[in-house]
Order: sequence, then C-alpha cells, then structure tokens
Amino acid sequence: MADAERVLVIIPAAGSGTRFGGDVPKQFQPLGGKPLVQRAVERFLFDPVVTRVIVPVMEKLVDAVKSSPGERVTFVAGGDTRLQSVMRGLEAATSKNDDDFDLIAIHDAVRPFFSLDTFHATLDAAREHGAAFPGISLPDTVHQIANEAIAKTLDRSVLVAAQTPQCFRSDVLRDILARAAREDADATDEAGLAAKYGHHVHLVRGDSMNFKITRPEDLVMAERIWAEWGGEGDA
Ligand code: CTP
Ligand code: MG
Repeated sequence: MADAERVLVIIPAAGSGTRFGGDVPKQFQPLGGKPLVQRAVERFLFDPVVTRVIVPVMEKLVDAVKSSPGERVTFVAGGDTRLQSVMRGLEAATSKNDDDFDLIAIHDAVRPFFSLDTFHATLDAAREHGAAFPGISLPDTVHQIANEAIAKTLDRSVLVAAQTPQCFRSDVLRDILARAAREDADATDEAGLAAKYGHHVHLVRGDSMNFKITRPEDLVMAERIWAEWGGEGDA
C-alpha cells in the first residue's frame, strides 16, 4: 500500500435502535465496559492505515462526545437515516479541507467484531474495483413471503448478507451519494446503492463473527464472546 494513501473511515452512530429498544441507543451500550461505538473507533485507530475517523451521532449528543478520543477522530451530527448520517460524515470531512481521501470505509458502529484482515481485503478490492463489501452466505433457507405464506423459495447459493466495513474509492462514494441526494433516494447500505447506480461492487468473503448488534440477545452473545476471547485482541 502506498505510504501517501489517505483512508477515511465513517462510522454512522446516529441511529435510535428501535429493534434493540431501551432508553440508551444500542451503539452506546457497553461491551466489556466500553460503549460499542468506542470499541469500533478504537479498533480502527489501532490500524495505521486509517488517516481519519468520522463518527456521525445524534445531533443532541455531539457536544457530549466532542471532547472524546484523539486527534484522528471527529464527532459530527448525523441525520434521520443511515444514508443521511453517512452523507453528513462525508460533508464534514470535506468541509475540513480533507477531501483528498483515496479510499473511504463505512462501518456500522454496532459491529464490534469486524476483523482488520477483512477491512484490509475490502480496501484492497475497492482500490482495484472502485467499491467492495464483505458478505457472508446465508445459513438458513430463505423464502419470499406473500400474504403470510411462501410465494417462492429463493436460491440461497446466489445470496449473501451484506456486512461492513464497505469500502469505496472516494470518487465512487461521492458520485453515489450526490446522486442519491439529488434523487432523494434511500438505501440501507452504500454497497447496494453503488450497484444500483451501475458501479461494480466487489464481494469479499466476510465472516459470521462480524454480526450486527440489532436486538438485545445479540449483545448478550457479544458479551459472552468478548469474555471468552479476553477482550481487546484483533478479532
Ligand atoms: N444509523 C445512523 N443514522 C441513522 C440510522 C442508523 O448513523 N439515522 C447507524 C446506526 O447507529 C448503526 C448503523 O447505522 O450504527 C446500522 O443501522 P441499524 O443497525 O439499523 O441501527 P438503527 O437504525 O439504530 O436500528 P433500528 O433499525 O433497529 O432502528
Ligand atoms: Mg436502522
């Protein structure tokens, strides 16, 4: 990897966690004593390839977290949707005159067990192809449903579940976000958006440990794994 390459990581953390529930949004729930979002930030900061980390959080929390960790990290106000939070993150990077990033990674704040190996493989694929994401095959049979019944059984061999970090050449991400903003489009991930807009989005094999904390039972499982692994190591 060239020394001068600049890598921006955006960690959207402005969601309200409706499926998780509770008073504290899930990204601020502790894992091994530290908030999930901090776990994600720290793992990226551990990695010397990362130039900067931008973390969109709910607007009302920006001041509360502003004084937090080191100079490579900036907290900014997120938006009403994940995509808007990512857009705000990228705008903040640009407005700080740092828009010369080569590669941009986007990672859910609530995936504490992503591996740096997967991150690097996804960055490599994005450098080569323009866009890349980690995906895993589905363990369960998947049915399409209509009126509470099976309409069709999908071919599982051609399906993957998308994970993060999703990585993009800067020009590709800027192109798709600008287009989505113009068209007022929404998407649950940027990889799908890039594909929708005609970009090649390369699949990197992810791993099942990189699950997303979505419901309370996911956090229970994460705490057990964290304890079992002795915490801090590179998962
Ligand atoms: N996210 C965000 N801004 C939003 C919505 C989501 O930054 N307006 C972030 C979440 O904080 C999370 C990531 O996007 O880190 C993945 O989203 P998801 O797991 O769906 O989290 P929530 O949207 O908070 O949860 P839910 O869909 O259950 O409400
Ligand atoms: Mg959501």
